[in-house]
Amino acid sequence: MIPVVAIDGPSGSGKGAVGFAVARRLGWHYLDSGAVYRALGFAALRAGVDLRAEPAVTALANSLNLQFVQDLSGEMRVLVNDEDCGLALRSEQVAAAASQVAAHPAARRALLERQRAARRPPGLIADGRDMGTVVFPDAVVKVYLTASAEVRAARRYHQLKETGFGGTLPQLLAEIQERDERDSRRAVAPLKAAGDAFVLDSSTLTLAEVIEQVLALVRSRVGAVPSV
Ligand code: C5P
Repeated sequence: MIPVVAIDGPSGSGKGAVGFAVARRLGWHYLDSGAVYRALGFAALRAGVDLRAEPAVTALANSLNLQFVQDLSGEMRVLVNDEDCGLALRSEQVAAAASQVAAHPAARRALLERQRAARRPPGLIADGRDMGTVVFPDAVVKVYLTASAEVRAARRYHQLKETGFGGTLPQLLAEIQERDERDSRRAVAPLKAAGDAFVLDSSTLTLAEVIEQVLALVRSRVGAVPSV
């Protein structure tokens, strides 16, 4: 069985940076499942689809032409129906749309196989909200990465600032709390740690420390994995 490492957690916990770095170090594939939901949210906004309308959102999910392409500088570009989403995919507007479309069970089902198809040798690091609970319940390592809402908002603020974001920190904190609330309360695949997940609070840890802890967990479960 191809090993999967599931890294779940709320927005701003550092899942993306940790997942990407661990995948690089191991030479494994990397799935950013949040980008899949963001792409659906982006496509729904583009098409003017009502984000609350489950059948229309699900139809869009079924027909979504989604491509992840690495450009010459190594950056991952996301193409939705052949359009490069660019920085728009990372905006708070698209994040909020993603969290709304992600609340529809049928739309989630439509995206399930697409995510499972990312499981390819020699292994996969998958990050999101339900990687360890729903998409890859047989993951060999499950990490639930979290941090206080204040720390997460501050991280997002610095990240977004670099892209010319004009909002304020309190506004961002409120948005993050609203999204956490919606992601945790939804009936299907809510944001929660799998029973067998290793819970890691990154509030007072550096990125490098979290990466080392996850790599140590992988080695303890998978054995001596080559490090690139
Ligand atoms: O991780 P990211 O912030 O990019 O995810 C955007 C939104 O997509 C989340 O707020 C969540 O609603 C949704 N999502 C999800 N399941 C996943 C990954 C993301 O519902 N596995």
